[in-house]
Amino acid sequence: MYLKLTIILGAMMLLLNILVTTEGQTVVDGVTTEYGQIGRNITLLCKNTDNSVAEWQLNDSEIIRTKDMELTGTSLTLFNINESQEGRYSCHNLESGNVYSTVSLLLGYPPGKPQVACWSVRYPLNVVCSWKLENQTYLPTRINVTYRYGIGDAEHCSSEETLQGNCIIEDIQLFSKIPYTLKVTATNPLGFRSTINQFIVEKIIKPDPPTDVSVSPIPNQARKLLLQWNPPVTWPDPSLFLLKYRIKYWPEGSTRHRMIEISDQTSYILSGLRSRALYFVQVAAKDFVDNGASSDWSVTVSARLWPN
Ligand SMILES: *[C@@H]1O[C@H](CO)[C@@H](O)[C@H](O)[C@H]1NC(C)=O
Ligand SMILES: *[C@@H]1O[C@H](CO)[C@@H](O)[C@H](O)[C@H]1NC(C)=O
Ligand SMILES: *[C@@H]1O[C@H](CO)[C@@H](O)[C@H](O)[C@H]1NC(C)=O
Ligand SMILES: *[C@@H]1O[C@H](CO)[C@@H](O)[C@H](O)[C@H]1NC(C)=O
Ligand SMILES: *[C@@H]1O[C@H](CO)[C@@H](O)[C@H](O)[C@H]1NC(C)=O
Repeated sequence: MYLKLTIILGAMMLLLNILVTTEGQTVVDGVTTEYGQIGRNITLLCKNTDNSVAEWQLNDSEIIRTKDMELTGTSLTLFNINESQEGRYSCHNLESGNVYSTVSLLLGYPPGKPQVACWSVRYPLNVVCSWKLENQTYLPTRINVTYRYGIGDAEHCSSEETLQGNCIIEDIQLFSKIPYTLKVTATNPLGFRSTINQFIVEKIIKPDPPTDVSVSPIPNQARKLLLQWNPPVTWPDPSLFLLKYRIKYWPEGSTRHRMIEISDQTSYILSGLRSRALYFVQVAAKDFVDNGASSDWSVTVSARLWPN
């Protein structure tokens, strides 16, 4: 009789040492991990009881009772939980103090909807999609990203890229009317949210700003400035996939600027300017046939006109 009991107890203890996963709970060495949402109510169940009542401890100390807490039989309900209530909750036999079971309580929020943006900065080489989660969840949150062209097979973004918050789609289909579909899913123990983003590659072209922008006075030209720049270094082939440029300029002290648009050249002479004035200039790049969006503005450069 005693031998039998010992064997059963031994088998139970072995079981407790095995890692088991059931519905979002992890059990390691007899400690169950439970996840709760901040601001909600949670009920902790006392397992393995041999009694209809039990006592609860938090981090091995008696729990300070508040009105936001309710003990019903062996279950402990916490109302409107907050971060300060995380910890190891254990329930005990009232007389002997022996532990029935232990719950490690972790609190946070389910993930919010991922904010996703896709751009082709290196057109026609690739499309880069990136995302961020609106709010901190305080819990380990996984991101899973898949994409497909039309109704083709879903492809997974590499987990390495995914960890860094972006997904690079290579070998893209150019000049197609069939959209790509990208799905970003954020998952944590409290739930999951997905965002689906559809795009046509040519509509999301967005070059980086032009580089090496400079402006200088022209000797003996009191109303003109020489502006020079280079195509964005990330634009793979400016001679095949032409760019056009927008130039924005304004004199010192003015709140109004003038804008001009020119095609496929990397220098320009601004004329008809106010003599002696200091001028500020910025340049932006855009796909030659107006696909997609204009780049951000380059850094601002400035020069004063040649004094006459
Ligand atoms: C938590 O429990 C209280 C009392 O039973 C109830 O009034 C409240 O609506 C519950 N809150 C949530 C978020 O379920
Ligand atoms: C967190 O909850 C405990 C217990 O309900 C309460 O005493 C405490 O004031 C709360 N703290 C905050 C910051 O809400
Ligand atoms: C309980 O212990 C854990 C881990 O040491 C700690 O993070 C938590 O703040 C403690 N909880 C309370 C309520 O003291
Ligand atoms: C993010 O947090 C802010 C402020 O705490 C809150 O107002 C907003 O509803 C949260 N958004 C989501 C998606 O949870
Ligand atoms: C990622 O999501 C896809 C589609 O939603 C699903 O088939 C796949 O199993 C998920 N992968 C992981 C690691 O969660």
